[in-house]
Amino acid sequence: MAKPFSIVIPTYKEHDNIDPLVQRLGDELHGRQYEILFIDDNSRDGIEEAVAELSARYPARIVVRKDVKGLATAVMDGFDLARYDTILVMDADLQHPPEIAPLLVDAIEKGADVAVASRYVAGGGNVGWNKLRQIISKGAIIMAHLLLPLSRNVKDPMSGFFAFRRELIKNVKLAPIGYKILLELIVIARPRTVAEVPFMFRTREKGKSKLNLGQELEYIRHLVSLMRRSGEVSRFIKFTVVGLSGVIVNEGSRLILTRFGGLAYPRDWIAAIIGIEVSILTNYLLNNYITFADCRIPGLKSFFNRMVKFNLISLVGAGIQFGTYVTLTRYVGFSQRPFDTVANLIGIVLAMLWNFLSNNWWTWKR
Ligand code: GDD
Ligand code: MN
Repeated sequence: MAKPFSIVIPTYKEHDNIDPLVQRLGDELHGRQYEILFIDDNSRDGIEEAVAELSARYPARIVVRKDVKGLATAVMDGFDLARYDTILVMDADLQHPPEIAPLLVDAIEKGADVAVASRYVAGGGNVGWNKLRQIISKGAIIMAHLLLPLSRNVKDPMSGFFAFRRELIKNVKLAPIGYKILLELIVIARPRTVAEVPFMFRTREKGKSKLNLGQELEYIRHLVSLMRRSGEVSRFIKFTVVGLSGVIVNEGSRLILTRFGGLAYPRDWIAAIIGIEVSILTNYLLNNYITFADCRIPGLKSFFNRMVKFNLISLVGAGIQFGTYVTLTRYVGFSQRPFDTVANLIGIVLAMLWNFLSNNWWTWKR
């Protein structure tokens, strides 16, 4: 017997969409045991009456929140109030085709911890989006993939259409900000298996989108909050401290070699090069055993593999630092003191970011 499931639908001024939505879900889910739970933020557009009427024929109910507002907390309340152990979340505005809902639930039945209706796997997409919207959407996903490695294996972590087992969130504290509840779920609850089912994100026919610039900026806040809570901020701090220790190692070994290693001027350039390489190696070791301790693949081969990658990335990083310095001092007017120092510091910061992000992405790949 298939397990029953709850469909959580946040609503704000969606009255005109409710009837067709519930009917189409009813058709798709005929013979299955489910409930539809609307979490409304005091829309006062007649949705309560509409749901009351529908509830005679369909397993639908509504909770109206009077004093709180916001999509994220509405969905969280839905999780708390949902009756069943499989929970599906979708929008009320029919941009999420009801016929995808049973596919998501089936994927959970088959063992996935999370099932995502995905715009970015073969067969999925956004209907009627212009180039700019596509780019913004893709850009937001790339940012998540880059800054939150745990989201990397999900092609559409921004989807608002997904299902999961309640079990998954039993021992975690979810604190989403804004619209990206799925991203929160993936990064904080760490599902072992995520299934993605393609779907076409339709255009809205009735009512208006509530997504505005303010919410887009909330996404940045949410990203930072997720980086902090998933340990990525402290990873970045460790990486920075290791980088600073490398400066000391670099100069220390150069000094020792020039003073006591027989590499005094004019052979000091050899000492300088050895100093650089020694600091790259100590940086690698410290990052391997501290910064990325949780991302190591065991084995000697993989240890040396990562060491080569770390070296290559450091080489490009040095190029970035040098290139920035030359560009800023030669072409942007940073040649006079103290701006030459500023130019070099900007180069160092850019190289650091490059080093962190690419090592995070490639060397200690997850
Ligand atoms: N309770 C409540 N409170 N519901 C809200 C609120 C709120 O403050 N704001 C929006 N909703 C409901 C809407 O009524 C709708 O059912 C759903 O949340 C999505 O809102 P839309 O305003 O239609 O969002 P969208 O279409 O721009 O964004 C959707 O697509 C994005 C991907 O492009 C959402 O699914 C996003 O989560 C998704 O990232
Ligand atoms: Mn919408």
